[in-house]
Amino acid sequence: MLKNLLRTSIKHSFRAYSIDSNGKKIPKILITGGLGQLGVECAKHLRGKYGKDNVILSDIIKPTQEIVNDGPYIFVDILDFKGLQKIVVDHRVDWLIHFSALLSAIGEQNVPLAVRVNIEGMHNVIELAKQYNLRIFVPSTIGAFGPDSPRNPTPNITVQRPRTIYGVSKVHAELLGEYYFHKFGLDFRCLRFPGVISSDPPGGGTTDYAIAIFHEVLRKGNYQCYLKPDTRLPMMHVRDALRALSEYLEVSNDKLNRRVYNVTSMSFTPEELSEAMAKYVPEFKITYKPDSRQDIADSWPQVFDDSEARRDWNWKSEINLDDLVKLMVKEVREKIAINGL
Ligand SMILES: NC(=O)c1ccc[n+]([C@@H]2O[C@H](COP(=O)([O-])OP(=O)(O)OC[C@H]3O[C@@H](n4cnc5c(N)ncnc54)[C@H](O)[C@@H]3O)[C@@H](O)[C@H]2O)c1
Repeated sequence: MLKNLLRTSIKHSFRAYSIDSNGKKIPKILITGGLGQLGVECAKHLRGKYGKDNVILSDIIKPTQEIVNDGPYIFVDILDFKGLQKIVVDHRVDWLIHFSALLSAIGEQNVPLAVRVNIEGMHNVIELAKQYNLRIFVPSTIGAFGPDSPRNPTPNITVQRPRTIYGVSKVHAELLGEYYFHKFGLDFRCLRFPGVISSDPPGGGTTDYAIAIFHEVLRKGNYQCYLKPDTRLPMMHVRDALRALSEYLEVSNDKLNRRVYNVTSMSFTPEELSEAMAKYVPEFKITYKPDSRQDIADSWPQVFDDSEARRDWNWKSEINLDDLVKLMVKEVREKIAINGL
């Protein structure tokens, strides 16, 4: 009986990476919650690096034809442990990128579902990663801090008492991951991202205004912002975020003094963003009507200190506010040209 158990656990933890032409190991990667704002772009980025068939997207949403053409896509509900096991085994997965989540504003609208997806989902993936000896990446967020945390700057290690279920679930994920690392040697890796800006539709977070403003202004010439003009929040363009993720996944364990790192590129307010946009979009109007998201933003970091990531694995952002605006104006204009107003 014991022998069988041992044999099973050894078998489960056996990892046989593919090898590329330079003799480098190529990981097989599964992305959960992959049809959201970050997942699709992340798959593109990692497929460019590791090959189309080595990155599997998964979600509970019906994919578009384009997603299916781009590479492997499978259905998996993060709450279905057996379904997850089957995918890891059938596809011989090495790395798991866990994106499934309900974001801050959406989570507040449906707390029981956020508890299930964000907390039970995390229990499933961390056990899965332990059982099959996977490297596991879980994103955290500036929302993992709260009103008691220092806000300008917010260091890597400080008080974390968030007031949203999203933040609570992310602190839980950070702590659980660190615990599994210390207790079982699990290769858990986590980056705390600020608001991530891309031309794809955002998932219902508090920093979404910085995406919506480009879509609305370029379509209609005006935007009503749900945050006050001077609300400062840390942000990064999706290219910087995905480069951080992929560089961090490649760092050898001996360089890492932590399993959880802050990363960021910049901080700005809605007013500063609209001033930067005025250089590229001359005529538009912005008005302000703060809603419940203002309370969330007021409890979050204003400036994020990512010096530990810079020190330990040479993280360096490349996209500043002007680059970000230029990229967004170009990408959103292209989307409008394809999809219409
Ligand atoms: N976008 C940001 O600005 C940002 C910032 C910090 C951290 N993050 C984190 O990055 C991750 C991805 O963020 P995103 O912006 O792509 O989110 P998103 O809301 O756009 O996507 C989340 C995906 O999870 C899926 N999902 C929901 N319930 C599921 C279930 N039961 N089983 C499987 N999948 C399910 C959804 O269908 C959705 O496609 C999240 O964990 C988020 O907390 C995002």
